[in-house]
Amino acid sequence: MGWYQYVMAAAYDPFMRRLEKDLKHYRKKLLGMTRGRVLEVGAGTGVNFDFYPGEVEVMAIEPSRAMFRKAKKRLTHPNIRLYNMGLEDEHVNALRPPEGFDFVVSMLVLCSVREYPEAIARYYKLLADKGKLLVLEHIHATGTAYGKFQQWVNPVWRPLADGCNLTRRQDLDLKKYFRPVEEGYFRLGTDWYWAVMEKRPGL
Ligand SMILES: C[S@@+](CC[C@H](N)C(=O)[O-])C[C@H]1O[C@@H](n2cnc3c(N)ncnc32)[C@H](O)[C@@H]1O
Repeated sequence: MGWYQYVMAAAYDPFMRRLEKDLKHYRKKLLGMTRGRVLEVGAGTGVNFDFYPGEVEVMAIEPSRAMFRKAKKRLTHPNIRLYNMGLEDEHVNALRPPEGFDFVVSMLVLCSVREYPEAIARYYKLLADKGKLLVLEHIHATGTAYGKFQQWVNPVWRPLADGCNLTRRQDLDLKKYFRPVEEGYFRLGTDWYWAVMEKRPGL
């Protein structure tokens, strides 16, 4: 638990403020669909908490102690439980309902998960067969001048931005395991991808 984690946690909301004005629309739309038991991966400072409908049961996991502490202060929803652990932590298995989660929420997380693309296979295991994966992620602006810039700047950006990678194509990697029921791309600084996805059977 270094000072760096605390700086990151303190800077996160002010840094994101302008983007959030637009991202809010997608958070609201996607999280408004949740029902039953939900796993939120990488809750950060808890920015999603206010968007869950009252009746859902949310298990939110967050490995950074500093982010976890910030998120805890935002916990006003009685049905959200917050755990200081990462996706690869074996204790996540104990949170999984026997039939799997009805929803797994992945928002701005797959850029910084260290064990990637293994994290996607983990989503697959944690989700119920008829469950839905809700995705909002920034992706590499492949094939553009900006995308080239992202490749160039990524080695410097990543250590400064808490492991955030600018060069991943989470959309393409997710589609190896999940089929989009609804999806969309938009530009906000970089390229972004949002989706409601279901499991490809038999994997
Ligand atoms: C950019 S923040 C996004 C926070 C929040 N999901 C949001 O939408 O604003 C990424 C978060 O993912 C968390 N994270 C990184 N690796 C993780 C892992 N392996 N398992 C769970 N969360 C992880 C980080 O600690 C950080 O809080």
